[in-house]
Amino acid sequence: MLNLINLSKSYADGNKSKQILKGVDLTVESGEMVAIMGRSGAGKSTILHIIAGLEKVDGGEFWFQGSNLTNLNYKQLAKFRKNNIGFILQNYALIDEKNVFDNVALPLVYSKKTKKEIKTTVFRLLEKLELNEYLYKFPKELSGGQAQRVAIARALINDPALILADEPTGSLDEETERIILDIFSKINKEGRTLIIVTHDQSVAQKCSRIITLKDGQLV
Ligand SMILES: Nc1ncnc2c1ncn2[C@@H]1O[C@H](COP(=O)(O)OP(=O)(O)OP(=O)(O)O)[C@@H](O)[C@H]1O
Ligand SMILES: [Mg+2]
Repeated sequence: MLNLINLSKSYADGNKSKQILKGVDLTVESGEMVAIMGRSGAGKSTILHIIAGLEKVDGGEFWFQGSNLTNLNYKQLAKFRKNNIGFILQNYALIDEKNVFDNVALPLVYSKKTKKEIKTTVFRLLEKLELNEYLYKFPKELSGGQAQRVAIARALINDPALILADEPTGSLDEETERIILDIFSKINKEGRTLIIVTHDQSVAQKCSRIITLKDGQLV
């Protein structure tokens, strides 16, 4: 499904340039659930941003489902992201001014779906994540675990083949973490591919493979 070949990426650091990724190779097969670990600042989020098409690489190649995306422009990458990627973040990144329904429906607003189709799709997904009673609540009225389930629903609403999660349980207690992990396992069993960045061994143990980012390379 996904192929990163010899990726390199630098960021400006004052008037110098700091190389974060130094030849990252990664192959992820469809249906896998992969954990990426590594110390803070190693470049884990950077890798997810590249896969999501939010960042461009300096060198190397990025392939997705047989297409070379390395040289796409940001507009083309945005289209790729909309069609293929669901992104889940540690701090949920919900829109405070919108209720649960509208947060989850947001990715569908620019699709060609009718209002009725959107409603049916959102209701079905919120029911699956046991969120139907929170439909009209606002993010600040939710617990961390509820907010993360809403964020997961939003990431799934477009039916993406690949889910990227950056420290998805980093702000949750153990019990809530377990609920989120069960949801991830379920999503994975349904055939979706997941790449999860985590500092947490118990999260990584749930994955089929653990990769560590060290000195700019995946080992
Ligand atoms: N947009 C940016 N501009 C400049 N430097 C950046 C940018 N994004 C990340 N960096 C730097 O790149 C390095 C890797 O950052 P990244 O966020 O990928 O690390 P990480 O492995 O996700 O760390 P953490 O576990 O703390 O989330 C860090 O030194 C960071 O300061
Ligand atoms: Mg990070």
